[in-house]
Amino acid sequence: MFYGADYYPEHWPEERWEIDAKLMRDAHINIVRMAEFAWSKMEPKEGEYSFEWLDKAIDILSKYGIKVVLGTPTAAPPKWLIDKYPDILPVDVNGLTMGFGSRRHYCPNNHNYHEYTKKIVEAMTEHYKHNSNVIAWQTDNEFGCHESVCYCDNCLKTFRIWLKEKYGTIKNLNDSWGTIFWSQTYNDWDSVISPRRAVTSHNPSLLLDYKRFMSDSFVKYQKMQIETIKRIIPSSQITHNFMGQFNQIDYYNLARDLDFVSWDNYPVINFGDITFNIKKLSASVALSHDITRGLKKQNFWVMEHQSGPTGWEEVGRQLRPGEMRLWVYQSIAHGADAIIYFRWRTSTSGTEEYWHGILDHDAVPRRRYEEVRLIGEELKRIEKYVEGSVVNSEVALIRSFDNEWVFEIQPHAHGFRYMEQLKKYYNYFYKRNIQVDIINLWDDLRKYKLVIAPGLIMVNDEIAKNISDYIKQGGVFLTTFRAGAKRWDNRMNSTSLLGDLKDIVGIDIDEYGAIPTGEEISIKVGTEIGKASFWYDVVKFNTAKVLGTYESEYLKGRGFFTVNNYGNGKAYYVGTLPNDKILQIIMGKVLKDISLKEIPIKRKESVEVVRKIKESKDIYFVLNFNNEESSVILNKSMIDILSGQQVEKNLHIKPLEVRILIEK
Ligand code: GLA
Ligand code: ZN
Repeated sequence: MFYGADYYPEHWPEERWEIDAKLMRDAHINIVRMAEFAWSKMEPKEGEYSFEWLDKAIDILSKYGIKVVLGTPTAAPPKWLIDKYPDILPVDVNGLTMGFGSRRHYCPNNHNYHEYTKKIVEAMTEHYKHNSNVIAWQTDNEFGCHESVCYCDNCLKTFRIWLKEKYGTIKNLNDSWGTIFWSQTYNDWDSVISPRRAVTSHNPSLLLDYKRFMSDSFVKYQKMQIETIKRIIPSSQITHNFMGQFNQIDYYNLARDLDFVSWDNYPVINFGDITFNIKKLSASVALSHDITRGLKKQNFWVMEHQSGPTGWEEVGRQLRPGEMRLWVYQSIAHGADAIIYFRWRTSTSGTEEYWHGILDHDAVPRRRYEEVRLIGEELKRIEKYVEGSVVNSEVALIRSFDNEWVFEIQPHAHGFRYMEQLKKYYNYFYKRNIQVDIINLWDDLRKYKLVIAPGLIMVNDEIAKNISDYIKQGGVFLTTFRAGAKRWDNRMNSTSLLGDLKDIVGIDIDEYGAIPTGEEISIKVGTEIGKASFWYDVVKFNTAKVLGTYESEYLKGRGFFTVNNYGNGKAYYVGTLPNDKILQIIMGKVLKDISLKEIPIKRKESVEVVRKIKESKDIYFVLNFNNEESSVILNKSMIDILSGQQVEKNLHIKPLEVRILIEK
């Protein structure tokens, strides 16, 4: 298993490198990522490449058995390049150029930048093509981080070309966007705008297309890098470090051209929340892992794993003893095949002086180093059990970037967020140790017993068919309010709701409304009464059966929760956002239709249990996110592979402790 750190030899004197490598080796580190911000060191002046320093660092590391991932340095274009081509700099929504001085200061559509990207990537890959210590490549660094949209004139030109390819004629574009509204009709391609600051809100279809265009721009820019690397090193393994729940680039598309995906996991970025508690974070971090695993439907790497307090201007919370280990094992439980810490040693200069690494500024190995060493030792011991193990989910949640963007552009109810609804459903399963895959609209649904698509406001024929085929062959499907309300171009459907999903779900919507922030309405399922927020759909059922109703005012007795038999399967509809109590009852009913593989471990609050499989044997990760001792009940005694000991049915777990159990 790969275990490592992000390393910046260019920040330290050469005499230090060997000491670092030795300390790394002693902590069981066998991989480092380097160079992703070192452009000005690798090409100090145009065309003058300098790799000797990096060669030397790689040589020293390899003497200590440490392999290397090299990052292309394009997240930080050097000053000489910006001085020569200032049009590389991105432009904000007000038309103002964002200057040099931090990072990610480039427009992904800039031709000059593409040329210089190709040159530096070629130079690096040519130089390292025969170096067997370089085992993988990372493209750029966190595409879209800080800023993901550019409004420069060149982006506008490229956007027009993108639109022309998509719509063919200007008439089609006008029809799709409905530009007749507010007299926005475009007469030719050259008159089409990008959504820079206007007097008030732009056309929602233009906004959605601009998001898609910017996302495609990064995907294309990355593809150019990948093609350059692969041309020179066909067998190269290429990844990128994604950002969990980040939503401004369609991550499924960004992942498509990569060999494997990685992500940067900083669970504890806490500056001022006095209610802070790691219990509150564990489900959300688990979701980020599952999102990442879903991008290519395969295991992933953590390319940056938190190893100390985070901080740029302010200093975040220190990791408590044992906490790093807990987050590391959660990562592995959800599919991480490699753990690489950010960063080896805390920088003594620059914006990230307070973003702590394994070592402090003075490089004295202290508690965090010792913890890293112990985790490394432990991983070596257990890797034969865990390496290559996979999560095998029977439930999938659909996360669609296009649909998320629709709600970002028009949240409907004040404060409503697509991901918050998705999280409610995710958390239901999380609390019950039921593994969930996060998948895309076009993915094969047939391997799942249950598929949930919250916030599926926009569908097209292909998606409707995918869902319909899945249910017909026996699948159970659930979707929620606003499903099918919009067309794929982000215009409203002019047919009655639920548009293309109407027959599948077997209902019409008779009336709907937003629930103002802070207000709730009463709902009822069976004899249980609870609350709902954000939205209400009043369901008129055609072939569907009502399972839950509203209790408030004139809505009393009208349906919000239905089920429809469709083919060999069932489609459920939830026309509001129920509180946890009612959601539990709803999901309880849905789960009665399917039989999920039972986990032989009963957990308590804030103890996470994840099942993985290796060579058809189950492995259970038991993670205690409590600051107090907790326990789980096993239905038989098992072996804890961390201690090698047999554990009994009533298993106590210390605060922040981890157990990894296999059957005897
Ligand atoms: C991100 C980046 C790193 C570093 C850390 C800490 O994850 O990828 O380069 O900036 O954040 O800020
Ligand atoms: Zn631009």
